[in-house]
Amino acid sequence: MNPVRNSILMGRTRISNGVNPFVIKPITTLKGEVFLLGDKSIAHRSLIISSLAKGKTKIKNFPRNKDCLRTIKALRKLGVRITQKADTITVFGRGIGGLKKPKGPILAGESGTTFRLMLGVLAGQDFQARLLASTALSLRPMLRVTRPLRLMGAKIKARREKRKGSLEEFPPITIRGGGLRGMVYKLPVASAQVKSAILLAGLYAAGNTVVIEPIATRDHTERMLKQFGVSLRVNNKKIFLKNNKLLVSPKSMNIPGDISSAAFFIVLASILANSKIVIKNVSLNPSRLGLVRVLKRMGADIRLTLNKNKTSQFEPCGSIKVKSSLLKGISVKKKEMPSLIDELPILMVAACYADGVTVLEGVGELRLKETDRIRSMYLNLRKMGAEVNVARVKGEESILIQGKTRLRGVKVRSYQDHRTAMSMVVAGLTASGVSSLDGISCINKSFPEFLQVLDSLKA
Ligand code: S3P
Repeated sequence: MNPVRNSILMGRTRISNGVNPFVIKPITTLKGEVFLLGDKSIAHRSLIISSLAKGKTKIKNFPRNKDCLRTIKALRKLGVRITQKADTITVFGRGIGGLKKPKGPILAGESGTTFRLMLGVLAGQDFQARLLASTALSLRPMLRVTRPLRLMGAKIKARREKRKGSLEEFPPITIRGGGLRGMVYKLPVASAQVKSAILLAGLYAAGNTVVIEPIATRDHTERMLKQFGVSLRVNNKKIFLKNNKLLVSPKSMNIPGDISSAAFFIVLASILANSKIVIKNVSLNPSRLGLVRVLKRMGADIRLTLNKNKTSQFEPCGSIKVKSSLLKGISVKKKEMPSLIDELPILMVAACYADGVTVLEGVGELRLKETDRIRSMYLNLRKMGAEVNVARVKGEESILIQGKTRLRGVKVRSYQDHRTAMSMVVAGLTASGVSSLDGISCINKSFPEFLQVLDSLKA
């Protein structure tokens, strides 16, 4: 057996016990064609919005990750019937007023999207519910969601603690909704989760809701609400939503492949010589294509082809062809961050192989993800020999990477974060010498098939 394949397979068998390190041996090239399961962000929204429509919605190419399972369970707890057959989910929607008071707390696990979007839905319900989170999510800030939902009229109790001199709110949260008023709200931070929570609450509010974004973020909630017949208009960075008492299901939808999962292979194929891969049926939503735009500016050979297929027209979908290329360092501005926020760890790996300096400006939000991803990637990449620095540029926390040193294989850590773990597997595959990662089971949060897909692309 090919030694790399062997190491990957050995690694995979170790996922289950999660104790032994995962061994990564370098590879030389990547070739082939893959289809990915559905986008995690779109999948959460498809479940929630289908539940608020009356009748059946079939959702095809549904992903099998842990986070989406949390949203399924949360909605079941609120009385929604959801069934699954292979990669097709059927949601038996209860209509906008049809959710039931849950018996016991709703467990969001480590899924931030479940927690924040469900808070928006619960703000509209005339009953009390309690939302619990697991370890890492319990440390993530929630005031950004609770503040606007309180302004709309929801009654919310959260755990409070001082962070950096001011009070912040964290899970667990108890919420009693109902009697909401629409409002005009200017988001203080660019966050698709917060925007979505307000829009979902807005469905229940008296009067209209307007959300103003500082920088445009992923627009899946807006697209899906429109798909369900909701009267919603977007003008520049302003979203106008009319309160709606009727959501009409399109009956069936197809979730395009996850671009955030594709990102690992796009970067790996760009770095490794003689590589040529095609990722089919993947989301080409412009609000998620920041990594592709940045890599192209760095000199990457990436070609996008839009599908003309009508079934997934509410979300643009198509194929991405990547060939290896020589990358050069560039500056990435703060306004680009929301369109590549989840891809920053893997972009840092790409920057290590670019000729010259790459500056990633205004990356502060990265500290508030499943782990502090500035810290996790800084420590790991420095250990592999990369020249990474964190400094203030134009008053904003920024990452500076001087590229063109081949990374060296060492022991790295996942920090229990899926995107740090997968980025470090990619880094290890490009390094000189063998690397090991302390744990890999965290990748199940978003992309359980990661190692299988990788295996299928190894030439
Ligand atoms: C997400 C929005 C982003 C992203 C997260 C998923 C979403 O978070 O990092 O992985 O599905 O809306 P923020 O809204 O906190 O930026």
